[in-house]
Amino acid sequence: MRAAIAAVEADPDISVALVSKVYPMRSHTVSAEGGAAGVAREDDSLEMHGFDTVKGSDFLGDQDVIQYFVEHAPKELTRLEHWGCPWSRNEDGSVATRAFGGMSTKRTWYAADKVGFHMLHSLFQHSLRFDRIVRYDEQFVTKLIVDGGQVRGVTALDIREGVVRCILGRAVVLCTGGAGKIFPFTTNGNIKTGDGMALAYRSGVPLKDMEFVQYHPTGLPGTGILITEATRGEGGHVKNKDGERFLVTRDYGVGKKAELGPRDMISRAIVQEIEAGRGIDSQYGQYALLDLTHLGEEKIDSRLPMVRELCKIYAGVDPVYEPIPIRPVVHYMMGGVDVDIDGKANGVSGLFAAGETACVSLNGANRLGSNSLTECLVFGARSGLSAVNFAKGASAGDDAALAKVGEAEQGRIDALRGKQGGGETLAGIRGDMQKAMESGCGVYREEATMQQTVRDIAELEGRYANLSLEDSSKVFNTEIVAALELENMLDCARAVSNSAASRNESRGAHTRRDATARDDVNFLYHTLCHFDPAGPRLDKKDVTLGRWEPEERKY
Ligand code: FUM
Repeated sequence: MRAAIAAVEADPDISVALVSKVYPMRSHTVSAEGGAAGVAREDDSLEMHGFDTVKGSDFLGDQDVIQYFVEHAPKELTRLEHWGCPWSRNEDGSVATRAFGGMSTKRTWYAADKVGFHMLHSLFQHSLRFDRIVRYDEQFVTKLIVDGGQVRGVTALDIREGVVRCILGRAVVLCTGGAGKIFPFTTNGNIKTGDGMALAYRSGVPLKDMEFVQYHPTGLPGTGILITEATRGEGGHVKNKDGERFLVTRDYGVGKKAELGPRDMISRAIVQEIEAGRGIDSQYGQYALLDLTHLGEEKIDSRLPMVRELCKIYAGVDPVYEPIPIRPVVHYMMGGVDVDIDGKANGVSGLFAAGETACVSLNGANRLGSNSLTECLVFGARSGLSAVNFAKGASAGDDAALAKVGEAEQGRIDALRGKQGGGETLAGIRGDMQKAMESGCGVYREEATMQQTVRDIAELEGRYANLSLEDSSKVFNTEIVAALELENMLDCARAVSNSAASRNESRGAHTRRDATARDDVNFLYHTLCHFDPAGPRLDKKDVTLGRWEPEERKY
């Protein structure tokens, strides 16, 4: 929505088709909780935000991108307020900011703990001012239409009718989120199936840095529901079964930051505590505790009301009186569609991407909490502008010829709908994919299990060809949507596991038990994963360094 608004504001003559597989207010940003980062206080600076982000990324973030990001972050957050976002305030009326992991000062803007909801609402309502943003809700994009190396639009399955249509355009911006559902235990909603990543990948754009998968330290066991990092920003403590604040008492590399260390380090610390027998047993596996009881009811109700509600409903715990059971949970993909600082995809002209689906290389090997909501705004706007500039100079395609792509896609979808006889089920393949990903590409990784996951995912692609489906109806056939999503997830899972198996070092969220050190001599590069019918092909890309030289990452 930010890209669409930027595009129509930049040029009074263009129109934008906003194509979404869900109603826009159901996009996953709605469930973001804790906040959006941007320098707002006198004790803060762009330089500090920049360095925190570079260090958090384990020196794999591109420093030109980070520079641009920190400069534009406060402007975008202020603009969003002008569009109606109700940021929480200090007593004196200034914007309130809270502490977040890996940030050296309070720079995370928030609206209680419903930040994503308010941001999405503000964007959606602002987008309604423009007649030239035309919405196509509940349309599942099945293919990018690429002709002569240039994108010409998309084919989309109208979920309500079961009909495939071509939506043509002179530029396409992918803003489709991550692929957390390739793992079994995730904060991500069911819609996060890597669709945009897979569309770009199959069209010839490499996926970059896919090995870096972020585990958020505090998910509810069982459901994976996010308990926001804002709980720790507001003073919450992480404890083991003995009530020990192990991030304070033991050396997990987070130093004085303790609970406000970066996510990769805190997730590893929790796993180590559990492995050392200091976790708590449950039917959902072992967990640790997040204690907010010392914060008091008034603070919890004003700053963290949704956390209280979620804990009561989904864990049977009232955090005012009892600690919350938590364990690390897949939350975010640092990798994605390889784009440059303008959001321009590598290899297909007219294609752009922004947000979690893209890898503009802001987050490197580990994203700092609250940078991603701001990233959606900063690089959403920039990619929208880039798309307009491209579209103005682009030639039109041959519409009649392009429409044939839609006919072919309709044929493919019709053949898949209700397809019988293969013997493989969606649930079977999806479950096995998720198990394989957790086993090879979890918080800790090693050669043998990663290689096994590479083989398992390749085999699952073979099994997908033998998929049997049951529903041959056309109207709201969610089974066929799930089948298309599974195909996308398998592509993403292959890119993650192959990229991970190729990185023989530990950096950020990619932590190997059998290669524990970061190796800047051999691995200070971005991994590119190209689609190839014979299996993923890997390549490298330079990291853009700048004023901050790589150094040991200590807190
Ligand atoms: O914990 C959280 O509120 C998550 C924030 C983020 O991923 O940026």
